Amino acid sequence: MITIAIDGHSSCGKSTMAKNLAKELGYIYIDTGAMYRSVTYYAMQNGMIDAEGKIDTERLQAAMHDIKISFKFNPETGRPDTYLNGERVEDRIRTMDVSSNVSPIATLGFVREAMVAQQREMGKSKGVILDGRDIGTVVFPDAELKIFVTASAEIRAQRRYDELTAKGEQCNYEDILKNVKERDYIDSHREISPLTQAEDAIVLDNSNMTINEQQEWLLKLTKEAVSASE
Ligand code: DC
Repeated sequence: MITIAIDGHSSCGKSTMAKNLAKELGYIYIDTGAMYRSVTYYAMQNGMIDAEGKIDTERLQAAMHDIKISFKFNPETGRPDTYLNGERVEDRIRTMDVSSNVSPIATLGFVREAMVAQQREMGKSKGVILDGRDIGTVVFPDAELKIFVTASAEIRAQRRYDELTAKGEQCNYEDILKNVKERDYIDSHREISPLTQAEDAIVLDNSNMTINEQQEWLLKLTKEAVSASE
């Protein structure tokens, strides 16, 4: 069993790839973006982010030890759902509101420290797939397989638009594109653990690939990495 790190830009299908691969291999899947989203949702619910998006960092830092994130397998979807302090928040953390506030939250050092510690604990026994921005560079730099996924901003915005529309959420393509570009900028330029490609990561640009094509590509690489580690 190995550790698989899947990093890359937002909305480029990392989580779909990771979830499908985890199911195929019987590995545990950890969606680290969902953890930063849960912290954001907590901060929003507790009035720690004002209408202009300003974060009350003092209160949030003091509350960090009260924020427990976990994943529970959902037999109906065959995938894990995200829980915040025992409450299922899987759908509530995927809204545009949370998406608009999450990048600034993910720049905060004390938030990252707490999340990285939880991720290392969850992934310490191998047989795990984590997706995020800093998995191959910071969380598990010794991961046996590192993938860096990317696609054009327009394609990613379109995928996100289709996903939200399918869920019945009212949204606008231009707003989503703006959000995708803003998140790319903040994620890549923040001081602590910015989104960067690990030197030993394998790049996948999936702009013109189907989900099945990606899955085959990833499975082949995984089998090679597992054999190499034996
Ligand atoms: O993958 P996602 O879109 O659900 O991630 C939400 C936000 O969390 C995104 O703006 C970047 C941040 N993030 C991060 O900084 N580090 C991670 N390991 C995962 C996500």
